[in-house]
Amino acid sequence: MALALDRIYLGDCLALLPQIPDASIDLVVTDPPFAIDFKARKANYNRKATRVLDGYQEVSAEEYYDFSVRWLREVYRCLKESGSIYVVSGWTHLREILNALHEVGFHLLNHIIWKYQFGVFTRRRFVTSHYHILLGVKNLKKYKFNKIEHYPEDVWIINREYWTGKVKTPTKLPERLVEKMILYSSDPGDVVLDPFLGSGTVAVVAKKLNRRYIGIEIVPEYYELALKRLQQVTQPLFSSVTPADS
Ligand SMILES: C[S@@+](CC[C@H](N)C(=O)[O-])C[C@H]1O[C@@H](n2cnc3c(N)ncnc32)[C@H](O)[C@@H]1O
Repeated sequence: MALALDRIYLGDCLALLPQIPDASIDLVVTDPPFAIDFKARKANYNRKATRVLDGYQEVSAEEYYDFSVRWLREVYRCLKESGSIYVVSGWTHLREILNALHEVGFHLLNHIIWKYQFGVFTRRRFVTSHYHILLGVKNLKKYKFNKIEHYPEDVWIINREYWTGKVKTPTKLPERLVEKMILYSSDPGDVVLDPFLGSGTVAVVAKKLNRRYIGIEIVPEYYELALKRLQQVTQPLFSSVTPADS
């Protein structure tokens, strides 16, 4: 049976993605696991470990390339000819993601730098304070690009969100970052997929922007948090991307 729209699913995306019909998705926005032995409950700066949900599901470094090719091949099949994908990646396994995108047939349109605040303090190297966001398209003649800013640069300075006192997952993306990707590369009514949903940000922002969505997350506690966040979305948000965020 095909996965339904406007629903999120608890499970392994490698098992569930085959249930999405060919060429039925307009946009994929996702932030896959990074294979860096991420210490999910580590307390740092303003964050109390007890309020960070446990269970973050990692993939080993040895498996990372094969894992990336497997899920990317599935999302390539699910995307329409006009479809696009944004993949958020740290630099450690960027090479595997770039090679896997190429391997499954995506054309790389942009390599965006997301500059955030609060990189972790270092003594003998530069503080990492950016992620990579790779924008790939299926067909260079058919992809969507809604030019909502006059001069859209590929370095995005967007702060991480404070979730003071609330339960959260360790790697939540800021809504404004996700909002920007969705506004540029989809229209109202389009279907947005995130196979690594975490706390649900991509589905939440898609719903606020009047897009349809499908999300998949393997950790029950994150899935439950995502369900709660989605239930709280009642009003569509109207675009608030301004040049100051870009
Ligand atoms: C970097 S986090 C995503 C964070 C998300 N963008 C947010 O804003 O909360 C990656 C997520 O992928 C999940 N995950 C890892 N392997 C998975 C798999 N095979 N299928 C589905 N989810 C998986 C992890 O549990 C984690 O929640």
